[in-house]
Amino acid sequence: MENKVKRITTQTLREMKLRKEPIVVLTAYDYTFGKLLDKVGIEVLLVGDSASNVIAGHETTLPITVEQMIYHASAVVRSAQRAMVVVDMPFGSYQSDSKLALHTAIRIMKESGAHAVKLEGGASVIESVRRIVSAGIPVMGHLGLTPQSIYQFGSYRVRATDPEEAKKLRADAQLLADSGVFAIVLEKVPASLAKEITESLSIPTIGIGAGPYCDGQVLVLYDMLGLTTDFSPRFLRRYANLAEVVQSACRKYLEDVKRRFFPSPAESYE
Ligand code: KIV
Repeated sequence: MENKVKRITTQTLREMKLRKEPIVVLTAYDYTFGKLLDKVGIEVLLVGDSASNVIAGHETTLPITVEQMIYHASAVVRSAQRAMVVVDMPFGSYQSDSKLALHTAIRIMKESGAHAVKLEGGASVIESVRRIVSAGIPVMGHLGLTPQSIYQFGSYRVRATDPEEAKKLRADAQLLADSGVFAIVLEKVPASLAKEITESLSIPTIGIGAGPYCDGQVLVLYDMLGLTTDFSPRFLRRYANLAEVVQSACRKYLEDVKRRFFPSPAESYE
């Protein structure tokens, strides 16, 4: 009999919230890493538009295109047997009108085979959220420090520290939940505010720099693996120093080739 792994769904995530089991999310951009993450049991693979930074080397997430997101997402979808794959809708692909938003979401779902999309913002994008949700596509929200608005914010500092912004964030979170999103990412907001929002919603919150009280946590894979070295916000815990591992292996290879130590006779064909 076929041994099919049961896929994580929006329902699974809601049940996890109910039984207070933390939801573990990591970003993924390719097949090889996606497969490793799926095998260790990461529940959600987020094909983040942070690919614009860590894969393409752009300063912000703004330049990445729908086609590029679909390329990364299809590789991750092929890698994941159990994890739910969520794909960021890139800047410019949903803000101008809800028809464009639905068109983009449908393209992402059809062309990559992903299971859900994510978009940034609250009230300002609510028509788009509603239209995508009514088409049967699961939507994840994203509030707080929303990197696609970096030029409006002017910096990557913690958001919603003043009462006005905190009030708006609470209202946006409730509006998103009422409009049918299945989870909300809270990025770089005070832990007490994230706790309050988490307790007030029936859908899961996923925190990044939002303290320990969210229903789940997400980190950018390349940051937590220590592949990136020039980004060290307080919330980032590095679980490895892969930059050093990779550089040391490549340095050794360089030396071996230069000194004709590689390949050896055993590594050559007769
Ligand atoms: O693009 C991304 O990696 C994200 C996470 C930081 C939540 O949106």
